[in-house]
Amino acid sequence: MKLWQGRFDGQISAEADAFNESLSFDKQLYRADITASIAHATMLGKCNIVPLQEAESICAQLQAILADIENGVLPVEGAEDIHSFVEGELVKRIGDTGKKLHTARSRNDQVATDMRLYVRESIDKAVELLKSLIETLCRRAKESCKYIMPGFTHLRKAQPINCAQYFNAYSEMFLRDLDRFSALRTRMNVMPLGSAALAGTSHPVDRELTKELLGFGEISQNSLDAVSDRDFVAEYIFNASLVMAHLSRLCEDTILYTSDEFGYWEIPDDYSTGSSIMPQKKNPDLPELVRGKTGRVYGHLTGILATLKGLPLAYNKDLQEDKEPFFDTEKTLFSCVSIYTALLEKIKLNKDAMYRAAGEGFSTATDVADYLARHGVPFRDAHAITGKLVRYCIQKKKTLSSLTLREFRLHSDAFQKDVLQAVTVTASAESRNSVGGSSAAAAKNGLKSVYKRLKKY
Ligand code: ARG
Repeated sequence: MKLWQGRFDGQISAEADAFNESLSFDKQLYRADITASIAHATMLGKCNIVPLQEAESICAQLQAILADIENGVLPVEGAEDIHSFVEGELVKRIGDTGKKLHTARSRNDQVATDMRLYVRESIDKAVELLKSLIETLCRRAKESCKYIMPGFTHLRKAQPINCAQYFNAYSEMFLRDLDRFSALRTRMNVMPLGSAALAGTSHPVDRELTKELLGFGEISQNSLDAVSDRDFVAEYIFNASLVMAHLSRLCEDTILYTSDEFGYWEIPDDYSTGSSIMPQKKNPDLPELVRGKTGRVYGHLTGILATLKGLPLAYNKDLQEDKEPFFDTEKTLFSCVSIYTALLEKIKLNKDAMYRAAGEGFSTATDVADYLARHGVPFRDAHAITGKLVRYCIQKKKTLSSLTLREFRLHSDAFQKDVLQAVTVTASAESRNSVGGSSAAAAKNGLKSVYKRLKKY
């Protein structure tokens, strides 16, 4: 029997019923739904909208239903949605008293509240997972602040950098993600109950009380908006999309750096996969999958934005389409952050290979130009002289660090003996000690700053 059967003579067709139902996915909201219902019933009792005793019996039964679902003795099935399921079960257990729960409430403000409770908890989980990812990045940075690696632009070796600076760069990205989730939590922590179907309620409800019981920061100020606002779902998926963007970059680096061609890092066996035909292969399936799943989360973002577009005020059933993209985003986000954290924990850093690579590709050419500029040559000229020096090296099959002082001086007599030291990989990385730069000291300060900001969450 439907909650809304009264107005109808006939039954809904099986096909329409199956199309309309949401229990198959919104059953995930059971705890949020029951928690919100207990708060609502408590408020109804306190405000004498429902006799106190009956309200208490409703709350007790809702607790029992929750326990039965969690213990697996009450299968969540056989209703249109989670709201009908819980109410139906309540009425089955306590008869007419159960029918009073829905006083001063509609499924519209109910589902809006359930979603907020659920998303709020999900934000807290996302924050915890991001924190542990950043902590792992920090550990890797701490252990590698003596290592030098190539820094890239356009995927071409650009300048030597400190390895800790590399890890810190990702910590910065995930710190911004943390911040976005935590700001969203404050913004979305608003209680819709009392908005009823769209226009509010004539019952003397105490919305502040319900808000307190559910731990919300504020009550919504416009019932039309409150029942149809799903901004927080879109924002969550956007935040998740940026986490995935950042993760996919880290994964791309991982795939490249662990290839034979780079050889900077090694994926541990327990996080690698093999090939069914090529016995020699050790494949980076996990980072590839994380990179791939990024597209799926972007799809959900586009989906929710399209769902919200052009909806007339107030509630429309289209809004039921917020759930599957959200649940899948949440699941994908959690599994990706968690698997990459585990992988990063175990990745082996080949410090010698990174150091060697850092010196290839004339990566200290900028240092030569900077050297000349420091010795009075205008930077534009210094750039051109160094360019010629690089061409000279290519012709002679030499590197900048294997040039003799005589060869340097063939190109400019501003070169002195100390240029031979300036073009070494370590001197190059160490020379850039501007705040946030590639020297070990700057990288250590960068790490300290990450730790400090992380502590806030
Ligand atoms: N399953 C619905 C949703 O997710 C619940 C609200 C239904 N409200 C209604 N008026 N049909 O949006």
